Amino acid sequence: MRILPIASGKGGVGKSLAAANLAIALGENGRDVVLADLDLGGSNLHMILGITSPADGGGLGTYLTGSVADFASIVHKTEYRNVRFVPGDGEIPGLANIMANQKRKLLSRLRHLQCDYLILDLGAGTSYNTLDFFLMGTRGIVITTPTPTATVSAYLFLKNAVFRIMNSSFPKKSEAANFIESLKKDGNGLQRAYIPAILEQISRIDPDRHRKCMGQIERFRPRLVLNMIEDPKDSERARKLRRSCSHYLGIELEHLGIIYRDDLQDIALSSRLPIIRYKPQSVLSQAVYRIADKLIGLEDDGDDFLDFEHVDDSYREAGLEAEADFASKTSYVEDLLHTGALTHGDLIETIKMQQIEINQLKKENNLLKSKLVRAMQHGLGG
Ligand SMILES: Nc1ncnc2c1ncn2[C@@H]1O[C@H](COP(=O)(O)OP(=O)(O)O)[C@@H](O)[C@H]1O
Ligand SMILES: [Mg+2]
Repeated sequence: MRILPIASGKGGVGKSLAAANLAIALGENGRDVVLADLDLGGSNLHMILGITSPADGGGLGTYLTGSVADFASIVHKTEYRNVRFVPGDGEIPGLANIMANQKRKLLSRLRHLQCDYLILDLGAGTSYNTLDFFLMGTRGIVITTPTPTATVSAYLFLKNAVFRIMNSSFPKKSEAANFIESLKKDGNGLQRAYIPAILEQISRIDPDRHRKCMGQIERFRPRLVLNMIEDPKDSERARKLRRSCSHYLGIELEHLGIIYRDDLQDIALSSRLPIIRYKPQSVLSQAVYRIADKLIGLEDDGDDFLDFEHVDDSYREAGLEAEADFASKTSYVEDLLHTGALTHGDLIETIKMQQIEINQLKKENNLLKSKLVRAMQHGLGG
């Protein structure tokens, strides 16, 4: 089983969208998928899947509060081929703070599921629960948009994940654990934490456990999806994030691909259909299929396999994707018309709307111009 946790530092960057559509794409490719809504407290994955009453038959909330004893009964069949779904039913308050023993039980139940891919849609942020779900797999996906706040949050998320690995490598109250704790208390120090240097110091305190910890950090090779880009230039953001991760955290971040912002997504949502069902040919859907194909292409490589050249290539490839998708976004309207997905009626309607908008802009423009002329005349007169 491959575990694909999907996380982010900031909310609203497209985790649930990616989780749902990737699950369907992998299912269509014959992979047996379980999709779990672990955004306990803010679960909305069912909406993207177009499922109206997620709690029918129970979800994680019902399970965690002990109302259903059998985990298998909350793993529901869906209308999507090869995709099963564990809903979140997040209406139970405080679920985001499940207890350590409940979490352990849940982790174990999830690990024992029979499937090819276990996709975990996580909550935003760096709570211990989220970090632990993310660290269920060594190759989790971090999603960010190209805005600075989102990329910084993605970086901080990964930093917290590395600290979580370090914490779990040394027993409480051991000298190394105390050292890590002391760093945490010094908030400023942590902000600029340079993990390779911290590990170097730990290697002198506890060489044996340090080796084990290093092994775990080396196996931790998260992957990036850059979502909602608007312009090919946005893909530069990913390279910056990679450099920070490599320099300050000592981890290699592979690029899984870019996704453009696509207005069709809103229409898909209101039609209660995942975008790859609503418009499989859209630039957004094609980007999801491309990521699914990459995941499938990587199946034969062991998870411990690290090829630096492959990581370099992944950024080059994402840059090319950003260029290519930009071009196809512009030719997309033409395609829609040819395939009949967009009728002539739709097109006429769109052009009419645009003409109204253009007329309004023209009016505003004339108004501004006349204001400007008046202001200048006043200026000259006075
Ligand atoms: N590439 C995209 N193009 C257009 N809308 C998007 C895209 N990705 C996400 N969205 C929209 O942004 C909002 C947040 O996405 P969501 O998947 O719920 O984020 P998260 O799970 O990270 O909080 C949703 O309304 C979703 O439909
Ligand atoms: Mg979400």
